[in-house]
Amino acid sequence: MSPARRFAAPAGGRLTPEMQAAFAEDGFLVLDGFASPESCARLRARTAELIAGFDPASVRSVFAAGAGPQHRDDWFRTSGREIRFFFEAGAFDADGRLVRDKAVALNKIGHALHDFDPVFAAVSRAPALAAVAAGLGLADADLVQSMLILKPPAIGGAVDMHQDATYLHTEPVSVLGFWLALEDATPDNGGLVAIPGGHRQGLKARHHYDGPDLVTTRLDAVPFSGTPVALPAPEGTLVVLHGLLPHGSGPNLSDRSRAAYALHAVDRRARWSADNWLRKDPARPTRGFDG
Ligand code: FE2
Repeated sequence: MSPARRFAAPAGGRLTPEMQAAFAEDGFLVLDGFASPESCARLRARTAELIAGFDPASVRSVFAAGAGPQHRDDWFRTSGREIRFFFEAGAFDADGRLVRDKAVALNKIGHALHDFDPVFAAVSRAPALAAVAAGLGLADADLVQSMLILKPPAIGGAVDMHQDATYLHTEPVSVLGFWLALEDATPDNGGLVAIPGGHRQGLKARHHYDGPDLVTTRLDAVPFSGTPVALPAPEGTLVVLHGLLPHGSGPNLSDRSRAAYALHAVDRRARWSADNWLRKDPARPTRGFDG
């Protein structure tokens, strides 16, 4: 794999024309040193606090063997405007018992940290992040989804190649993903991979409601083409992903965790697809960078 191009994070998130051109060409933008070591440490500490306050017994039945996929699905489906905890499949034994400490058993925490956790709300609305979004054409942002992706050592699961617009669809496509490395992400601990320029292949699939069911509809039978490259992301790196960019990550088989914070925003000028998995809730509206 050839190395992906990357840049030192610009002051205030003010992108240069070269950075904007790289994003247009590659479909991603890697900004080293976007968050300071102190900021990353604060976000990791907050993550640890959230996990410390989480009682696995409160949701274990949702994930226990025999509970059935429907229970897990419902836990996910209704998490759009909540802060919920999701386990790795490898965290349980065949009898559904949690066999790891919760701190190294969770896959992710989502999906509305940016609105309901004060620490992650602040980082999500940092002026520099808003400036990056504006520099990439997101003029009227709507922050719709966030998650802490924890990728624990040894059992952190892979994420298949996908396009974020499959899950967060607008007409036209407008979603941008902001992926902040809270720890070093490398090929051996499940770091990101992406197909440079792959965002020009069009949307391949949509994951959406069909009545009460969440289904995936193929829009294009042609698989992703192109060779994925690794996007190594040392702590503090921000990776911005175009909504049509094919990207994913391998499993974490190493002995190091690989925590990242991912925030997704769409453009309010585009039409939100009402059959998205993430249901808008008038009682808990989504908001932009200016809150
Ligand atoms: Fe993604």
